[in-house]
Amino acid sequence: MRQAVGVSVPTFVVDSRAEAEHVLAGEIADLLRARPEAVLGLATGNSPIGVYRDLCALHAAGEVSFARATTFNLDEYLGLQDGDPRTFRRWMQTHLFDHVQPRSTNLPECHAPLASADAVAVRYEQALQAAGGIDLQVLGIGLNGHIGFNEPGSTRTSRTRVVELDQRTRKHAVRVFGDLAQVPTQAITMGVASILDARRLRVLAFGAEKAEIVRRTLFDPISAECPATFLRGHHDVKLYLDAAAAELIEDSALPS
Ligand code: F6R
Repeated sequence: MRQAVGVSVPTFVVDSRAEAEHVLAGEIADLLRARPEAVLGLATGNSPIGVYRDLCALHAAGEVSFARATTFNLDEYLGLQDGDPRTFRRWMQTHLFDHVQPRSTNLPECHAPLASADAVAVRYEQALQAAGGIDLQVLGIGLNGHIGFNEPGSTRTSRTRVVELDQRTRKHAVRVFGDLAQVPTQAITMGVASILDARRLRVLAFGAEKAEIVRRTLFDPISAECPATFLRGHHDVKLYLDAAAAELIEDSALPS
């Protein structure tokens, strides 16, 4: 693992994606051993899937317990039926929760029919605060620079709320929903400020398709046009990249 120098976020380029997954799963396991009642912030998607696989393996080996842990996920689609296999709730059950059984798991519960999504969002933010905030937040970065579903235009001070999904985000989700018309147009997401309140942020980006957004995250002006740039203000953030995702970081920043 090599650390990039002179970049605005502590950035680690790993030899293989498995190395980053192993390091982050290990850090989460260490946190749970030191503080069994830790609050974990979780993401869905391709980036963290191997971390969850490693955590399931550690749990199966008796090396970590989630019995007193609380989790909060970043986001959930609005308007799917409860139990729909395409909800992030189902995804989390399949990839982590059913295997490790945390004490309490939270996602914005915004299934149809729903009277007031705004009220769900407000309650989610309150629950986050009441739990004492997030000890460690796992994040991926969207191709448009979103974190959670904080799409371009999301401000630094935004909190958990209902959002319209960006066209690029919806097109990306066609791989799950089959066709664009099926992809929800709205979601509930933790806000940028809700995410930045986490005591540690651990960000993963793998593959060539992430190279350009990684470059923008590290080098573009910090602004709502690319919400991932707000990560640069955080006091304990680490970014893990494979070689393909690090392709557009200056050679001078990456000592061999
Ligand atoms: C997922 C989430 C998103 C993803 C991002 C990257 O809960 O909030 O911000 O982290 O879209 O997705 P992947 O990892 O699938 O490339």
